[in-house]
Amino acid sequence: MVATAHNISSDTLEKIASEVIECPLCKLSRSRKNAVPGEGQISAKVIFIGEAPGKNEDENGRPFVGAAGRILDGALQKAGIERSQVFITNIVKCRPPGNRIPEDDERSACRPYLDRQISLIAPRIICLLGATAYSSILGGKSIKENRGKIIKRNGQEYLITIHPAAAIYNKNLQHILEEDLSSLSKKIKKMENPERNSLLDYIDDQNDRSC
Ligand code: URA
Ligand code: SF4
Repeated sequence: MVATAHNISSDTLEKIASEVIECPLCKLSRSRKNAVPGEGQISAKVIFIGEAPGKNEDENGRPFVGAAGRILDGALQKAGIERSQVFITNIVKCRPPGNRIPEDDERSACRPYLDRQISLIAPRIICLLGATAYSSILGGKSIKENRGKIIKRNGQEYLITIHPAAAIYNKNLQHILEEDLSSLSKKIKKMENPERNSLLDYIDDQNDRSC
């Protein structure tokens, strides 16, 4: 068999998930009902990273299945991205009590699981949902400075956007999330078919100029 980025090691997403489910490595293990490893395909072109499981996720063992999940699903749908085509996970895999922000020791204890998921999937782009993901992965302080932007770090591209929970009661933020995911969708299509898309860009440019 020819080795590819996906099968060069013996690690698998299933192996990571089974370790996460029984993980004792930080204090969140004591209060969780269910750990939430994340879900999606190894062939995903995008990984979405949120903050931490909330109440619904803790009950179900699946990421983004509550109110924030509905906002994310709506934005994905508007952008023409299938949830089944992406991988969705969080900075920490267990719910912090009362949904507090995960602490530094919890983030670092959990980080190797995320790093293994990223290196197995080798996504074209990683979408950071909100300040916790942004600060943990890129060390940024406020997402305001870079929201909607794609940043390249060590050869990996990251799109920075808001956390879907922020948009639950805020239509403007909902539109911002939809806009960011739509540009993400365009970017993925462009990566998949650069020649056809440079032609489409050219046609778009001509249309922009004439109106
Ligand atoms: N908020 C998150 O950051 N992640 C989830 O999975 C659900 C809500
Ligand atoms: Fe383990 Fe991560 Fe859960 Fe902490 S949050 S117990 S490190 S899986």
